[in-house]
Amino acid sequence: MDEIESLYFAAFHGPPLYESREAARSFAQLYGWLLPRPDLVTVFSRTRQGAELAGIAYGHPWRWAEQSDEWAAQLRERLGESAASLEGRFAVYLLAVDPGYRGKGLGRLLLRSALEAAGAERAWLITRDEQTPAMALYTAEGWVPVGQGPDTPNGRPGLVLIKG
Ligand SMILES: CC(C)(COP(=O)(O)OP(=O)(O)OC[C@H]1O[C@@H](n2cnc3c(N)ncnc32)[C@H](O)[C@@H]1OP(=O)(O)O)[C@@H](O)C(=O)NCCC(=O)NCCS
Repeated sequence: MDEIESLYFAAFHGPPLYESREAARSFAQLYGWLLPRPDLVTVFSRTRQGAELAGIAYGHPWRWAEQSDEWAAQLRERLGESAASLEGRFAVYLLAVDPGYRGKGLGRLLLRSALEAAGAERAWLITRDEQTPAMALYTAEGWVPVGQGPDTPNGRPGLVLIKG
């Protein structure tokens, strides 16, 4: 979890995202909660020396019946009729690559590998509704918008993307 917090902070605190240490901590905590799930899929890459995480992607299949928190309730409400299309899809919770290892194909590899390891032909994720490098990656990989979800740290509703 400490490693995830460090990687998250390194990946998200600089421009154009400017996320806080607190956000990194929350994400690491979320990973801790998800860890006992037998269907959690995590793929990661370590630095050449093996000392640190260079990138990570993780998620699990989404079942509305398991979701009881406020965030999921808002997701369902904002998606409206499209909410049903998330059922059973692999939910990508996090994709992050350390700034020192970007632009070499690692983000694409991690994203593809997570879906492959999960055996997922259908997936979804939520991202900022902005022209970020992540959005460019998702578009290039064939992800398409299906609606809006809870606000992202830019204060605007996140964009929910699906693949397959
Ligand atoms: C998004 C992220 C994972 C991409 O990692 P990466 O290893 O640099 O990406 P890749 O080298 O695999 O690039 C794959 C594609 O992403 C897009 N891309 C990556 N960096 C980009 C940039 N700076 N500007 C525009 N497009 C970019 C391109 O389409 C690229 O394909 P191409 O090289 O064939 O043109 C990385 O920038 C990151 O960790 N960002 C911060 C965290 C984040 O936003 N995560 C997603 C939250 S939903």
